[in-house]
Amino acid sequence: MPEQIATRFQSPGDGRPDAGMLAAWERDGFLVLDGFYTAADCARLRRRAAALLEGFDPDEHRTPFNTRDYVHARDDYFCASAAGIGFFLEPGALDEAGNLVVDKRLAVNKIGHALHDVDPEFDRFSRNPRLAALVAGLGVRDPLLVQSMYLCKQPRIGDEVPPHQDSTFLHTRPESVIGLWVALEDATVANGCMWAAAGAHRGSLRRLFHRREGQLVMETLDTEPLPQADTPLPAPSGTLVVLHGRLPHCSGHNTGAVSRHAYAVHVVDANAEWSPANWLQRPPDLPLRGFQRDRTPTTR
Ligand code: FE2
Repeated sequence: MPEQIATRFQSPGDGRPDAGMLAAWERDGFLVLDGFYTAADCARLRRRAAALLEGFDPDEHRTPFNTRDYVHARDDYFCASAAGIGFFLEPGALDEAGNLVVDKRLAVNKIGHALHDVDPEFDRFSRNPRLAALVAGLGVRDPLLVQSMYLCKQPRIGDEVPPHQDSTFLHTRPESVIGLWVALEDATVANGCMWAAAGAHRGSLRRLFHRREGQLVMETLDTEPLPQADTPLPAPSGTLVVLHGRLPHCSGHNTGAVSRHAYAVHVVDANAEWSPANWLQRPPDLPLRGFQRDRTPTTR
């Protein structure tokens, strides 16, 4: 199947999507907004992530992030990261004996999942007023920032992310999740940019990742295969990609020699019911919050 070409926009100055963007959002289930964040914004977040990586002790936690069988999901470290900062390794960073085969700074697949609520730099980046205006313009009346991830996609070992829908992992009734993904370095086909199945957000939700009888399980809701994600979304640093919760998307293996750092925040509508079966549950002392920067983050 030939590759499709994604519609792209220059970022709106005030963040609010115009009529053309809203039409593309309805039609495609995604938006690509170039230049949403400045080079300085991106550099600042990369520096903060580098500092976090420097402090990471791989001898304490060796949890690979595996999107094929979700073995990490059986790990308490993964569940605890809902309210803190966890480091998840690239499967290719470990040998069969579990030893790191690359420097720790090049071994991490992602850092998550409450960066935006416990780290001041990530709080600032996530609660950008233009991002709040964009989300409001897309019709989210009462947004909650539920999850944040710093995605490293390391050179050569950066693993692929198979096609999925974000509503599988962050479920509300009715569904309301929106993914906000920011390229912090240039994302290309060679280093594993995002791909999407344009328009397929109108299809059914295929799977649900949730707690059942005390275990995290992946349940099939609809056996219809996801359509092919045939639209590459290459993204120069600073580009924001917005993803509908039902949109099938994936990213490729990083076969190149340069990393592809990105940052993703997921937002839901507080007027929808947050499923008590979601893997991500917050303790009472760290409730989910919106875009207001009204609380001093506390490092956990
Ligand atoms: Fe996703």
